Amino acid sequence: MPIDSLVGSLGARLQSLFDLIEAAKQQPSNRYDRIWDCCCDHGYLGIKIVEAELCDKLIFVDQVPHIIQWLESKLEMLPKERFGLIAGDAADLVFEQGQRHLIILAGVGGSTVTTIMGAILKTYVGDSIDFLLCPANGVFGVREYLIEERVSLKDEWIVSEKGRQYEVLHVSAGMEIDGHVKVSSVGNMWDVNDQEHQAYLKKIIAHYQRAALGGDAERSKMILEVYRGIYEHCEHGLRSME
Ligand SMILES: C[S@@+](CC[C@H](N)C(=O)[O-])C[C@H]1O[C@@H](n2cnc3c(N)ncnc32)[C@H](O)[C@@H]1O
Repeated sequence: MPIDSLVGSLGARLQSLFDLIEAAKQQPSNRYDRIWDCCCDHGYLGIKIVEAELCDKLIFVDQVPHIIQWLESKLEMLPKERFGLIAGDAADLVFEQGQRHLIILAGVGGSTVTTIMGAILKTYVGDSIDFLLCPANGVFGVREYLIEERVSLKDEWIVSEKGRQYEVLHVSAGMEIDGHVKVSSVGNMWDVNDQEHQAYLKKIIAHYQRAALGGDAERSKMILEVYRGIYEHCEHGLRSME
């Protein structure tokens, strides 16, 4: 019997992550056994995943103990075998072998994303581990890290919520990667016709223009030029469509 959701509708950002996981469930070979809602805070995404039974078990992880205690009482109505709760640093997680794992890291800064991923990949010994990343900032640094780690890209997109844009990267690490797809330093998901993408690009360019005037100017200038290249490409694409 369907149960009423413990949470309201997801915002566009978390909904886009949910949609990917729901689509993965449709293909048995892509379905995840374990999904880890790391840095879960309110746990909205994880709760929706448990309610929709998109994996065998979802584990909520947050480093703040009272968040996990609050979630534990909120989740009393859900079947206990479908979820777990961990109060601790996501960098300390250990993963069972022989299972398909998906680790969600959303709503935290890029340096937290790379620190947690770095720690996990250092100790992970299994075959199959995917990450669904939606950093709150510092996405260029995250992409540089993924390239360095030779992580393989499965999908990437831009999602807008309340006038703000976020990049989402679905990537794969581990031994069993069919056909490695290199992550790009700025992404290949730009749509020249999409005004949200253009607005986002303008914001990034303005950010690095300001950063180029401060400390670490050389790096900021280098990044600025890469993003300007996309913008020029977009303008060229739009002109050629006139
Ligand atoms: C802004 S919330 C993100 C909530 C949700 N993931 C989202 O995208 O809406 C960030 C949460 O990350 C948690 N956090 C930050 N670093 C962490 C770490 N290393 N391990 C576990 N939790 C962490 C914080 O305690 C906080 O609750």
